[in-house]
Amino acid sequence: MITTDQTVQTFLDYFRERGHELIPGGSLIPPPGDPVLFTSSGMHPLTPYLMGRPHPLGRRLTGSQRCLRTTDLDEVGDDTHLTVFEMLGSWSLRDYDGPQSLRWGFELLRDGFGIDPSRMHVTVFGGDDRVEPDHESWRAWEELGLPVEPTVDENWWSNGPTGLCGPDSEIFVWTGRDLPQATPTTDDRWVEVWNHVMMRYLRHGDGSLEPMRRPCVDTGLGLERLVRILRNTQSVFEIDLFDPWRTTLPGLWGPLDGRSLRVLSDHLRSSIVILGDGVTPSPSGRGHILRRLIRRSLTTLWRDDPTRTLSDLPIELVDHTLEHFRQPVPGQYVHALLLEEEHKFDLLLQRGRKILSHRRFSGTLAEDDYRYLHDTHGLPRDLVVYLTTEAGVDRGL
Ligand code: ALA
Repeated sequence: MITTDQTVQTFLDYFRERGHELIPGGSLIPPPGDPVLFTSSGMHPLTPYLMGRPHPLGRRLTGSQRCLRTTDLDEVGDDTHLTVFEMLGSWSLRDYDGPQSLRWGFELLRDGFGIDPSRMHVTVFGGDDRVEPDHESWRAWEELGLPVEPTVDENWWSNGPTGLCGPDSEIFVWTGRDLPQATPTTDDRWVEVWNHVMMRYLRHGDGSLEPMRRPCVDTGLGLERLVRILRNTQSVFEIDLFDPWRTTLPGLWGPLDGRSLRVLSDHLRSSIVILGDGVTPSPSGRGHILRRLIRRSLTTLWRDDPTRTLSDLPIELVDHTLEHFRQPVPGQYVHALLLEEEHKFDLLLQRGRKILSHRRFSGTLAEDDYRYLHDTHGLPRDLVVYLTTEAGVDRGL
């Protein structure tokens, strides 16, 4: 069965055989001036080149980039979403056109990865009042014999409110046990694996779209999702990449329900990678996202057993993660930062418990109470909810 590493290699080799140069994956911190907090797509390090600057390695590029998406944070724990994930990409910088990218994408999935075309469905931009349907992509897919579903918003990709954007076309693979049925927007057993963006426009501050004289193509394939499909596992958490997490965590902290195991594997792994890229926990910005991930891990751990601690997390697991992402940071250092944050959170919880034990907060809390606890005592709402639920459990309610 194909491994995650072999999947990466197959992808990169395929594009290198077609004249693409390999670009090294970069940090989760995007280049200066980029509107996003974290790199959330493989194209971020390439923004200036997609905008027109010549790239030193040429017009055809490929690579693998670590990405972080917080829009999906609440969905972590389902079968497909991860906070930190890897995106394999191919780029045409004013070189070949969109249909060529789609044909190569289809052939790699069919011939390189052995996915039966009867399990593929694609979507294309169906047009709106400003931009006409993406006829070119539509025709290319029909020639390849794949079923096409047009959508509007879901097939328009942009890198923030202004800047590069354009219609996109997504390839979905069927993951159901039965024969493929319905369409990607009507049945979530169709899982999106590969997005091909036709970067044809620049959006300005006033909302106007300026067509680019020579468009680019930007593609992004979700590595873990593809491996899940190729290895036919229930979720992304059962692929080989997560083996060390799945086998180690229950040994450390006793039986964990399925969702907790997934949330802990995702959040702790993501926290390690973010720390490895030089971010530290803080009240705002990137550090706040990191803090939320660590604290969610801790509340997940402590819900069943408040004596559990991150000091039990083996350094080897931290090192394994840092090595996978080629981050030259000592595991010991990252481990120490995790423990420091655990300590701070523990102190905050102790303070919170003391404040909440006051008679004023013994009944159901009103909006005013939440505001007061936040503004005067610095206790965020989710923490108060956590503590009051905990108190409820303690009182046997
Ligand atoms: N930039 C495109 C995406 O992230 C490929 O989906």
